[in-house]
Amino acid sequence: MIINQVQNEFKRLFGGDPLVIASPGRINLIGEHTDYNEGFVLPAAIDKAIFLGFAKNGTRSCRVYSLDYQAMDSFSLNELVPRESGWINFIMGVTAQLLRAGYPIEGFDCVFGGDIPIGAGLSSSAALENGVGMGLSELFSLNIPKLELVHLSQKAEHEFAGVKCGIMDMFASMMGRSGHALRLDCRSLEFAYFPLSLGAYELVLLDTRVAHSLGDSAYNTRREECQTGVDTVRAHFPEVSSLRDVTMDMLQSVRQELSDVVFDRCHYVISENQRLLNSCKALEAGDLASFGEAMYASHRGLSQQYEVSCDELDFLVAYTIDRTEVLGARMMGGGFGGCTINLIASDRVDTVLAEISQAYQEAFGIQLKPYRVTISEGTRRIY
Ligand code: GLA
Repeated sequence: MIINQVQNEFKRLFGGDPLVIASPGRINLIGEHTDYNEGFVLPAAIDKAIFLGFAKNGTRSCRVYSLDYQAMDSFSLNELVPRESGWINFIMGVTAQLLRAGYPIEGFDCVFGGDIPIGAGLSSSAALENGVGMGLSELFSLNIPKLELVHLSQKAEHEFAGVKCGIMDMFASMMGRSGHALRLDCRSLEFAYFPLSLGAYELVLLDTRVAHSLGDSAYNTRREECQTGVDTVRAHFPEVSSLRDVTMDMLQSVRQELSDVVFDRCHYVISENQRLLNSCKALEAGDLASFGEAMYASHRGLSQQYEVSCDELDFLVAYTIDRTEVLGARMMGGGFGGCTINLIASDRVDTVLAEISQAYQEAFGIQLKPYRVTISEGTRRIY
């Protein structure tokens, strides 16, 4: 058990029993690249998590041990500056945000480890950030509301990891509820727990095990392209402040002023928001077939219009299209690698996995990694 490993390693390195936080990764059923456009998302926390042990150390320095990397690192509270790269940035980043928000953080020791695959698009970094935020809030009895911790995690990611991410990952990891997805309005941050009853079907992730390096910069470029679209539309429709406000008619009316690329990006985002709203209705009505079709449509948009897919993801999605036991599939998360999310008949999962793994191996020479996930609770203290 990872929790025991964290506790034992903590005792060995620092002595004593730490308080322990569990912070999960997330999936997203539909609504991709909509969060930073003030749209809708439908994520859920999963049963893959990071466990973090914390104790005060009575100094001004923070010592952190990563079980997965088997490495110790440290930083001083007097010098919180992002490093070139590395996991310590996530911990330093959240600590810096807490201090900046006026919270009295002192030196601490931390050991963490987990089973969220890194680089698979399951938001291991958001889980880590949330875990640090809640851990320090508990350690120093700060009682920080969860939503504030979500915002602090997002700021840490922006400033210390350099990715201008939206709010979905942190929100889902922090607020997740067992058996439920979260339908989140990324403009108002209003959300509703959405019971996920998939009947004879289940969600299976297929990890391409590739993470193409252009991911972060392309992500930031997509944000800018959407902003360009908004600026152009706003010149004609002053009430518009984000793509959330832009209708297809508005977009079409400024078509001549937009580059093809910007038009496609905006077209995708507007369609995806609509798809999400329709999908929620389909799920509520138990119409899994329509939901599955929306997953495929989402993937087509992400691949052809938003251009954040890659050959490996496209291959995995295409492979499932003609298989009746797979209702839907699409790339999930930021893109350029990571996982597809698939809705597969439970009694056929083993067969599908065996066949698709072999095909993927033949096409790319890579061993596919499937994850059968359970929807679980968000970031929480367990000891
Ligand atoms: C990454 C970001 C999220 C979101 C997704 C795409 O996971 O961190 O904020 O934008 O990509 O939906």
